[in-house]
Amino acid sequence: MANNKAKELVAQLANAGILVSSDIDISGIGTIDIGLLASKIIEYMKGQQGLKIVDNSLLRLIVDELSVEKVPISTEAEIEVIRKSDFEPAAKDIDAIYSISAQSVEKPDGTVDSFVNYFRDRLEQIRHIVEGRSNLVGLLRSIEELKNYMDGREVAIVGMVNSKIVTKAGNVMVILEDETGSARVIFSRYRSGQGSMLESAERIINDEVIAVKGKISGQFVIANEIVWPDVPIKERKPTKEHVAIAFLSDIHVGSKLFMENNFVHFIKWLNGGVEGRKDIAGKIKYIVMNGDVADGIGIYPNQDRDLAIQDVFLQYKKLMELVRIIPEYIHVFILPGNHDAVQRAEPQPQLSAELMGEYKPDNVHMLPSPSTISMHGIDVLAYHGTSLDSIIGALPGMSYASPDKAMIEILKRRHLSPIYGGNIIVPSKHDPMIINSVPDILTMGHIHKNAISNYHGVDIVNSGTWQARTEFQVRQGHIPTPCLLPVYEADKGTFVQIDFNTEI
Ligand SMILES: [Fe+2]
Repeated sequence: MANNKAKELVAQLANAGILVSSDIDISGIGTIDIGLLASKIIEYMKGQQGLKIVDNSLLRLIVDELSVEKVPISTEAEIEVIRKSDFEPAAKDIDAIYSISAQSVEKPDGTVDSFVNYFRDRLEQIRHIVEGRSNLVGLLRSIEELKNYMDGREVAIVGMVNSKIVTKAGNVMVILEDETGSARVIFSRYRSGQGSMLESAERIINDEVIAVKGKISGQFVIANEIVWPDVPIKERKPTKEHVAIAFLSDIHVGSKLFMENNFVHFIKWLNGGVEGRKDIAGKIKYIVMNGDVADGIGIYPNQDRDLAIQDVFLQYKKLMELVRIIPEYIHVFILPGNHDAVQRAEPQPQLSAELMGEYKPDNVHMLPSPSTISMHGIDVLAYHGTSLDSIIGALPGMSYASPDKAMIEILKRRHLSPIYGGNIIVPSKHDPMIINSVPDILTMGHIHKNAISNYHGVDIVNSGTWQARTEFQVRQGHIPTPCLLPVYEADKGTFVQIDFNTEI
């Protein structure tokens, strides 16, 4: 069939005096009409002098242009077809109960003062969390005070990790800093009562705030225990009302690899138009869309080759055309990610009204990343998860196959982006990435890999993606899990995953 199409294209172009290169590959033209393609090529060639030959790069250029024009936008009539009048969703008659809390997003000023204040705030807030831990009571000292004590004295200090090195003797030395000075803390390779401290030291990352217990020895503190801020065990009661929260991220509208048919299938399911798990579909009262909702433009070199929609405004228009088919009794919270058209530094502000234009329905809410959304009493901390790259790179045992492990490390550190420089952060008076109050659910995306876990009673969910495997992911060996929808059934307190790769 491709051969017939190629012959037809060659014939139509020959009539206009245009030659076609013998190695032409038309497998990428999709559903584009040959007549339309030929007329576009003829139009393009009009201004050309000399021999007119169509090669593969010119063909790709024109196909890309035509793909942009062919972006289907759903019409009111199509929306009506999707909505099923005989569908009686339980969530329709339940009032939405939600509130949002997010740190205000300050404009970066980049002064030395703002960085000093930012790190000081991080130290103070996390020290406040960690100093209540029972194993530190009575031992905590400021770093300046250490010089008043004799060798062998047991102390504990809280500080920010400045650096970590392996000494010539094979021990690990960590420089910890507080407002009063810096301390050299040694993690010995020799086994003590609790085993070698080297393994614990491996888990220390730059710029995080930790407490260390140890004994003074000259100018050093010899560590015997590290205390991370961590989270207490949390319990939660199921909701009385039959409501559920669906989690999505990394939709990447505008990418050629956005799995639009599967996404539309999901929206049809929400509208009762798909058989299978209608009980869950009818219970969904809230949807969290956690960043990379559009593919954006200029995010990485030559991204334009991977885009079906080259105009960022059209990407968001297309997103909204899809989102507005979601039933209006469902509240949709949209946060930005590193691909979205807002400032890349975190916290990221909400997507602008300008981008959403007149298409944003009232049940759709734009939020900064991170934000805490309380829905029917369930506190969900949502953050796109851009910092996961630096956590996976820095800690042993982490991988792109299990983003939940990295999310648990983030929770233990009570900080969404502990490694400064691993991810751009706006320095401000208050560190907005600190996890001050412990959520019921921590959700992220970014990794394109679904994962559900639980740590100390906090549910951890990575909501995967709606984009097929990219060339970059093939090169990196990452295997995404597209179109797998995690849903939290708040009345049961459990998660279920609905697979939209196949008919459900
Ligand atoms: Fe993404």
